Amino acid sequence: MVKTEIKLKGLTLKNPVMTASGTFGYGEEYADFVDLSELGGIIVKGTTLHHREGNPYPRMAETPMGMLNCVGLQNKGVDYFINTIYPRIRHFETNVIVNVSGSNIDDYVTAAARMDALDDIPAIELNVSCPNVKQGGMAFGVTCSGIEQVVKAVRDVYHKHMIVKLSPNVTNIAEIALAAEAAGADSVSLINTLLGMAIDAETRKPVLSMVTGGLSGACVKPVALRMVWQVAKAVKIPVIGLGGISSATDAVEFLLAGASAIQIGTANFIDPSISGKVAKGIVDYCERQGVKDVNELVGGMIL
Ligand SMILES: Cc1cc2nc3c(=O)[nH]c(=O)nc-3n(C[C@H](O)[C@H](O)[C@H](O)COP(=O)(O)O)c2cc1C
Repeated sequence: MVKTEIKLKGLTLKNPVMTASGTFGYGEEYADFVDLSELGGIIVKGTTLHHREGNPYPRMAETPMGMLNCVGLQNKGVDYFINTIYPRIRHFETNVIVNVSGSNIDDYVTAAARMDALDDIPAIELNVSCPNVKQGGMAFGVTCSGIEQVVKAVRDVYHKHMIVKLSPNVTNIAEIALAAEAAGADSVSLINTLLGMAIDAETRKPVLSMVTGGLSGACVKPVALRMVWQVAKAVKIPVIGLGGISSATDAVEFLLAGASAIQIGTANFIDPSISGKVAKGIVDYCERQGVKDVNELVGGMIL
């Protein structure tokens, strides 16, 4: 029997596999394809204090080995989540983690405080890739001071496990991760989407309504793996790796690079049952390699 339990501060995962925000709905949508109790956790859709319509269409574009999106955090807000969604998903036999997003610090703080009061939400993931409307739309998570401000403010009101999800659209990801750690993050997850764009050569118009969008899927994996490795070397808190993971082998690579757990995003759109397969596949890998505890893989890359 391979031991698969992962202990993060105040948060125990039955195995290292979680699903990434915005790619797995509220979990319910996938319950016919995956036994949710076989996952370490699900990170639900980005939730903001107030209802958001999202950006105009078109907001998705396919790329070779990936996709671009500018969905823009469409969601019905915290009250709707608490009153309508939470009662339906709170008893899932896995960790239900809410991805908290915002466009100013007060909104993050209020949304996080509301999540703190929910008994069956053991953690939040703070999405710091959102534009700060008070700073000309620059994302909070692209400067050390920006990330520090939002993480500190949320830390004051949120008392359970706080994952801070890092943006890869920065020059030095390790510095940003250190700033999140110093401000009180219990763990960091990375990467969010990489900024990209697409043009239709025939019409000469941008493909996406917002011109630019976030790139995700298999094509971003090498960048994500490099960043996870750099961050894991720099910080003392656990690292959660994601970006292009679509097989158990991909997941193992992230663990070897230093991630304590992983998330699966865009691959859910290609195979809705992939997360369960990856969880089983990691165990198969361990059996094949004579590894008794998944934790032994963390940071196990041989240089
Ligand atoms: C359609 C879509 C919606 C997303 N929504 C969110 C979100 O609400 N909050 C967030 O932090 N990340 C969001 N993400 C980013 C993913 O959670 C993930 O970080 C990224 O896609 C990289 O992982 P992947 O290559 O496995 O998809 C979204 C990604 C996609 C493709």
